[in-house]
Amino acid sequence: MMKKVITVFISLLMILSLAACGNSASQTGQPSTEEKLAAGTVNSEESAENSTNAENTDTSEGQTNESENPDILEEQGTKVLVAYFSATNTTQGIAEHIANGLNADIYEIVPEEPYTDADLNYNDNNSRTTIEMNDPDARPAITGSVEDMEQYDIVFIGYPIWWGEAPRIVSTFVESYDFSGKTIVPFCTSGGSGVGSSATNLEQLTDGADWLPGKRLNGSDSQDTVMEWVNGLGLDFGE
Ligand SMILES: Cc1cc2nc3c(=O)[nH]c(=O)nc-3n(C[C@H](O)[C@H](O)[C@H](O)COP(=O)(O)O)c2cc1C
Repeated sequence: MMKKVITVFISLLMILSLAACGNSASQTGQPSTEEKLAAGTVNSEESAENSTNAENTDTSEGQTNESENPDILEEQGTKVLVAYFSATNTTQGIAEHIANGLNADIYEIVPEEPYTDADLNYNDNNSRTTIEMNDPDARPAITGSVEDMEQYDIVFIGYPIWWGEAPRIVSTFVESYDFSGKTIVPFCTSGGSGVGSSATNLEQLTDGADWLPGKRLNGSDSQDTVMEWVNGLGLDFGE
């Protein structure tokens, strides 16, 4: 009963204010004092339901801001991206297992300058990879970028182990985006080395992200084996 009285009172106030100021508030996007008052006293659902004023753009249905509507957020679910760098396609196979298993988006970190066999020769002290890995500040350029990184809640990041570390181009990748609020799951393949400090070193290059422990996988692991690990992470991947 009391609610109804308040709602009628506020509706009257709004009608009066609109009659007094024309529709200048809607045109400028600035709420009038009365509109602010209304927003402070009536919860947004109630005001949306009760609003008969098509010009009240803050609450009319067509103008609903999706990011503020919990129902719509729930429908959107958790968005997962599997990003990976792979010079000889081993890590790529694992990345595809994860993306297929989760029905997630996949993104390949592609070097602006592709790595040749000579570049990948770790027995050569002067090869490109040896030089890059000897320089923690090396940041090889990436061609292309993730479309709308903002939309993702969970980002898997995969790479081969090079000299016990993630290739420097993965550092370029993690420094290129704002991962705050996201969960990051690092994974790698190697000739035998473990993940070591490769993932924690990448973590140092980001702010505000929740990094899970890194995982080393075998290039020959089946989709089932890979998904067993993924499903044991304790993450909510939505439906
Ligand atoms: C420059 C270079 C350095 C490497 N360093 C290591 C290493 O320290 N430990 C290891 O187990 N494997 C090492 N490997 C082997 C790769 O980690 C392994 O072959 C990996 O699965 C390749 O993944 P990719 O095909 O996705 O590039 C190295 C390979 C290269 C090219």
